[in-house]
Amino acid sequence: MARVINFNAGPAALPLAALERAQAELLDLESTGMSVIEHSHRGKAYDAVHQQTLALVRELLKVPDSHEVLLLQGGASLQFAMLPMNFLGKDQSADYVITGSWSKKAFAEAKLIGNARAAANVAVDGKFTRIPKAAELDLDANAQYVHITSNNTIAGTQWFDFPETKAPLIADMSSDIMWRPIDVSKFGLIYAGAQKNIGPSGLALVIIDKALLAKEKETTPSILRYSTHANAGSLYNTPPTFSIYLMRNVLEVVKAAGGLEAMERKNREKGDLLYSAIDADADFYRCPVEKGSRSLMNVVFNLPTPELEAEFIKAASEKGMVGLKGHRSVGGVRVSIYNAAEKAWVETLVSFMADFRKGK
Ligand SMILES: Cc1ncc(COP(=O)(O)O)c(C=O)c1O
Repeated sequence: MARVINFNAGPAALPLAALERAQAELLDLESTGMSVIEHSHRGKAYDAVHQQTLALVRELLKVPDSHEVLLLQGGASLQFAMLPMNFLGKDQSADYVITGSWSKKAFAEAKLIGNARAAANVAVDGKFTRIPKAAELDLDANAQYVHITSNNTIAGTQWFDFPETKAPLIADMSSDIMWRPIDVSKFGLIYAGAQKNIGPSGLALVIIDKALLAKEKETTPSILRYSTHANAGSLYNTPPTFSIYLMRNVLEVVKAAGGLEAMERKNREKGDLLYSAIDADADFYRCPVEKGSRSLMNVVFNLPTPELEAEFIKAASEKGMVGLKGHRSVGGVRVSIYNAAEKAWVETLVSFMADFRKGK
């Protein structure tokens, strides 16, 4: 079996042990004589998987009793719409901090529903290279909520200190959920498409404060209301059972590896290694992101010309390193090093970067 070094931005590499477990159990889940995909979602075998997944989220993120954990469909993009559909009235306002393409998309959806305001927009000539300072946020005292994107997958920027807000803080954590421990009680709602750090695409994790849930608009259709899913234990309709099963496998691996403290240590080591290599040769490898805002999940950089970037990406893929092409909207190189990316992968890349440079 030849597995590559997978630096994909999402769907992204998952822990090998989680995939191997799925492989071993595919035809026969725990001596039930059938695959998890073939089990009834109301049956005992699947229910055990479902409850384990919810419990692991609670345990790893230390989710307080004040918050519900939900497993939903439609990816993170459905959350862009579902959030304002539930909490933003036609005549109410909500604050959006614009730090990249995904926050722009979330903002655009909210504008269709109510008065969404940009509390900050850090774009300069259309480029996003930093996270705003707390003092730069122009927050509306009457906002229903404040929305941030904790990690900007395309721009390669990340929030390390979350803003203090009077209104409930909402975070799209699609590309950095579980990269480190966080204080969940500070958030009104956290959502994350699973396909970077925790599982397969299509599945979304939502953690919501019950106090916020109580403010839900009653005119929103049932399937799109958070309370529907909270009241049904995320079993209102048939859930994506295989995706949830795989998420359970991933979270078991994270727990066995030492939980989120261990993830943070590993992620910081990988980030330090890669940013040090970039900075050590700053005439050749240039990171456009301000120090202090540099993402530890998606490391972006440029070479002196687009031609050299294309040559770099091709040569790396010939050495078994894939997924390095920057997002089509910004170009350059992007190295996605989520929880499942091994430190050895980054060491291989860093050594390749030095060799590539020597040949120029
Ligand atoms: C930060 C962020 N938010 C939202 C999305 C959209 O997620 P989905 O494709 O699950 O709708 C992505 C996808 O890559 C993302 O990186």
